[in-house]
Amino acid sequence: MCGIICYLGKRSAVPILLDGLRRLEYRGYDSSGIAVFNNGSIDRVRAVGKIRQLEDKLDNQGWQTSGGIAHTRWATHGAPTESNAHPHADNSGRIFLIHNGIIENYQQIKDRLLDKGYHFDSETDTEVLTQLVADCYDGDLGQAVTQALRQVRGAFGIAVISRDEPGKIVVARRGSPLIIGIRDGEIFAASDVAALVSHTKKVVYLEDNDIAVLTPDQHDIFNLDDADIRRQPETVDWDVDAAEKQGFPHFMLKEIFEQPQAVQNAMRGRLIEDEGTVKLGGLQPVLKRFLNMDRLIVVSCGTSYYAGLIGRCIIEHMTEIGVDVDLASEFRYRRLNLKPGTVVLAISQSGETADTLAAVREAKRKGVLVLGMVNVVGSNIARETAAGVYNHAGPEIGVASTKAFTSQMAVLYLLCLLLGRRHRMSLAEGQQFVETFRSVPEKMERILQRADRIESLAHKYSRYSNYLFLGRQLNYPVALEGALKLKEISYRHAEGYAAGEMKHGPIALIDQDFPTICIAPRDSSYEKMISNIQEIKARKGPILGIVSEGDSRMRDLCDDVIEVPQIDDLFTPFMTVVPLQLLAYYIARENGCEIDQPRNLAKSVTVE
Ligand code: M6R
Repeated sequence: MCGIICYLGKRSAVPILLDGLRRLEYRGYDSSGIAVFNNGSIDRVRAVGKIRQLEDKLDNQGWQTSGGIAHTRWATHGAPTESNAHPHADNSGRIFLIHNGIIENYQQIKDRLLDKGYHFDSETDTEVLTQLVADCYDGDLGQAVTQALRQVRGAFGIAVISRDEPGKIVVARRGSPLIIGIRDGEIFAASDVAALVSHTKKVVYLEDNDIAVLTPDQHDIFNLDDADIRRQPETVDWDVDAAEKQGFPHFMLKEIFEQPQAVQNAMRGRLIEDEGTVKLGGLQPVLKRFLNMDRLIVVSCGTSYYAGLIGRCIIEHMTEIGVDVDLASEFRYRRLNLKPGTVVLAISQSGETADTLAAVREAKRKGVLVLGMVNVVGSNIARETAAGVYNHAGPEIGVASTKAFTSQMAVLYLLCLLLGRRHRMSLAEGQQFVETFRSVPEKMERILQRADRIESLAHKYSRYSNYLFLGRQLNYPVALEGALKLKEISYRHAEGYAAGEMKHGPIALIDQDFPTICIAPRDSSYEKMISNIQEIKARKGPILGIVSEGDSRMRDLCDDVIEVPQIDDLFTPFMTVVPLQLLAYYIARENGCEIDQPRNLAKSVTVE
């Protein structure tokens, strides 16, 4: 959602801040702003809309400054207007502040400040925090921020500057990420590594309640009790290339094509062929409890939830463990009775999703083991879970999740193998599982090589307004994911259904203008899918089949087919989801949609 980038150093700050904002665009935003030190004062520009609107406004300023703060805002309190955009200034124009998160008790603080004579120009909670810092300010910005934050409830990642202390930025976090980037004679702060990795890979991840005073050569970290804190710098393990399009027209397409590599990365160094099992370093501290659990509850949202549904099918197939998959937004409010043998696994690409984080906290309160599967290193969910497994999929910039999904699946298959070998899987079955798993990236590659076929089918199918996606068993979550991909980037109505449910309602919709995408590889549900297809055909519904290579029966039955390599039943989702991602992508492109930043969506949903 919102994004923060700050810079102090010897170079001109404005281009660095603008570049950082552009790299944060993918998170979703509706306004942006920048404030810089400029000849003894602080200058600010804010704009509604895209970063280029901000750039246009900045064009005539000719600022030569070596420090400032910048922000992309995704509206929560107050509409996306210029006066609600960050940075906010206090009444005297001395303090400027940017903020990710929500200040829960802003109204009480605002009432107090109103009584003291402050006036407010925006509807935001952030302006309240800005005035509060100003109210506490007595020439020492670090102390003013500390005093203000002691009075605040809620989540924040903030950066603050004062006209009276040029060359200094104070940053702080609670529940919203903030990372300091260090380079010789320069310092950066950002809410997301992507915003600063082109300048430095040496970073310090701030923890909750950390406050840091930044100058170009120094970062002093302390907490709300004024105790000094030492945090070791870490090295970001991906290159700036990973966060660039590298010749692809969109991040989404690039990330679809990165999937064989992402699946490879998820298995790298983890599969043990001889023993037909896996070793997951991140789970070692809790391995015994994990292997002996009797119930697994997966909590997640959106695409990560669908990955969880696939995890349920495979783990239940290979073990005696009961698996529930819950939407994090529901789980967090349920009256749960979690027994000691239960393990909760939170799946989140960003590691920041508010509902998933709240579900993690609720499960922890109940005293069970809570694990995380996240892609973003150092994110909140990674920090707050007892142990976990990283995806290592590299940064996912497109709002529509693609490589994170297949990477999450890959990690779930690793967990399945680990658990399966503890349960009923034999050595030979484990070895066979490893062999099949290893063949997945190359088979995915073969689908990608035929992307042009999917592109031309997308042309034909882009004229419809409604779509039905059907699948069974493991391919039911794939149907849900295919429908989600299409609706979020092309704004077309699409529904995913378990094919067996078709007769219980959705069949009423079928006619010549309502195409069905039938996921029907040659697996144990094949004959049942054929029956569904016959029923759709009888009602003149157009059918696009995702079928196994060389399946002439399906070719005859469906209007069109996309063929995918044959693979063991258990692994078909890796094959069937790729064409659906490409189909969604090309249909959205046909319709001229803004693919990487679809309307109303944010990459990390950090509010409920
Ligand atoms: O970062 P997370 O995996 O926790 O995000 C969960 C959902 O917000 C996310 O998967 C969302 O549904 C994507 N836009 C789907 O493409």
